[in-house]
Amino acid sequence: MNKKIIIANWKLNGSIQLLQNLLKPISDFVKMNHISSKVIIAPPSVYLNQAYNIVLNTNVIIGAQNVDVNSFGAFTGEISVNMLKDINIRYVIVGHSERRLHHQENNILIAKKFEVVKHAKLIPILCIGETDKDYNLYTTQRVCQKQIDIIFDLLGETAFCNTIIAYEPIWAIGSKKIPSLNYIQDMCCFIKDYILKQQNINKKSFFIQYGGSVNENNIQQLCKIPDVDGFLIGSVSLSLNKFLKILKTISIDK
Ligand code: 13P
Repeated sequence: MNKKIIIANWKLNGSIQLLQNLLKPISDFVKMNHISSKVIIAPPSVYLNQAYNIVLNTNVIIGAQNVDVNSFGAFTGEISVNMLKDINIRYVIVGHSERRLHHQENNILIAKKFEVVKHAKLIPILCIGETDKDYNLYTTQRVCQKQIDIIFDLLGETAFCNTIIAYEPIWAIGSKKIPSLNYIQDMCCFIKDYILKQQNINKKSFFIQYGGSVNENNIQQLCKIPDVDGFLIGSVSLSLNKFLKILKTISIDK
């Protein structure tokens, strides 16, 4: 059976109302339809605890969009892995391109965040991907390799054991454009092989997602890509009908 991992990144969107209007029906849908795929929803941190309580006793999982490298102390505005653990959050997105762009997070800081998350025994969802400039210069593989290497340098050869890697071409995010299916397959296969070459772990111990303009119309095609283990979904995850259509398609596509 095809068990994809679906991650909804709400980004800077959400409200108490949205938790009720979106999260509650999604968790009811997953429960009633026995959806076997893993469904992870990442709302803004201020709603994590409330979201967790809404999905309690369902198969929907709540994840965080970001975390600080520091554990405690004078770091105004940040949240730590211990705080996430305290409210039962196990999955954390690390290195999203919007954090790289708008918050000047570089590969070194992202590798440290990845390390902190892993040491806390949480599961990092590492985002990697190329800009449109890299894409046009055919340097995508080199860019992704660099984003991966820095994590191997810091954590050693078992770095990616029990993790999720989301390949998100930056130019595809929010653009309504996706790369060709062959291109996505080649990149996800490249990432998988590259990680397996550096470390002696089972290929089932990490997962590769595709992200960038995934929607209810292209999901069926995207599901057919062999080396894609799931999807990281932005704007469409804020529409109940569209997101449920995606979940339906994924559960039918076996
Ligand atoms: P969109 O699905 O809106 O393109 O966003 C993708 C993304 O950035 C998910 O993290």
